Amino acid sequence: MNVVTLVGSIRKESLNMKIAKFMQDRYKDKFDMQILNIDILPFYNQDDENNPPQVVKDFKREIANADAVIIVTPEYNWSIPGVLKNALDWASRVEKVLVNKPVFPLGASQGVLGTIRAQLHLRDILSSTGIQARILPPGGNEVLINLAGQKVDVETDMLTDQTTIEFLDSKIDTFIEFINS
Ligand code: FNR
Repeated sequence: MNVVTLVGSIRKESLNMKIAKFMQDRYKDKFDMQILNIDILPFYNQDDENNPPQVVKDFKREIANADAVIIVTPEYNWSIPGVLKNALDWASRVEKVLVNKPVFPLGASQGVLGTIRAQLHLRDILSSTGIQARILPPGGNEVLINLAGQKVDVETDMLTDQTTIEFLDSKIDTFIEFINS
């Protein structure tokens, strides 16, 4: 199984990126997980959507070819970061590569609310006309990693909180069942 991952933070020490890399390693026997570079995408411009730059074409092809998408994102000002919205905007036009694509949204923040507001926005965005993704249903499947600075080891960059790891394990299994259903 081939899964692509979008990470909503492009800073070097991103906790969300560390969690994505942790998942890439931990679930390597379940699926191949490729983390896409969304920071190389130019700002979405409708003038270019029919013949976008090569990096956009490549990005859209990776999504189109994937069995599923995982999105790991922080919350910025009660929503998703602009860099992630930009990537989703490119994906939503002309060749709509996210339509019916299984998507597992999750996120980590350093605060106590664990990206809940961003996740709610993200689910709305993923349901929009140009995207219409097949989102892992809510109601127990939301992975909201709060206080993430205390759950990722600064030496190893690994997620170390056992409760979080076990919850993530079970939700990954749920997502695989969802992809195959
Ligand atoms: C934040 N942060 C934040 N946290 C939160 O819980 N709700 C919010 O609305 C925001 N808003 C926000 C805006 C901006 C511009 C920044 C830089 C940060 C804090 C955020 O959760 C924290 O910095 C995370 O560690 C960012 O994720 P990465 O970069 O570690 O993956």
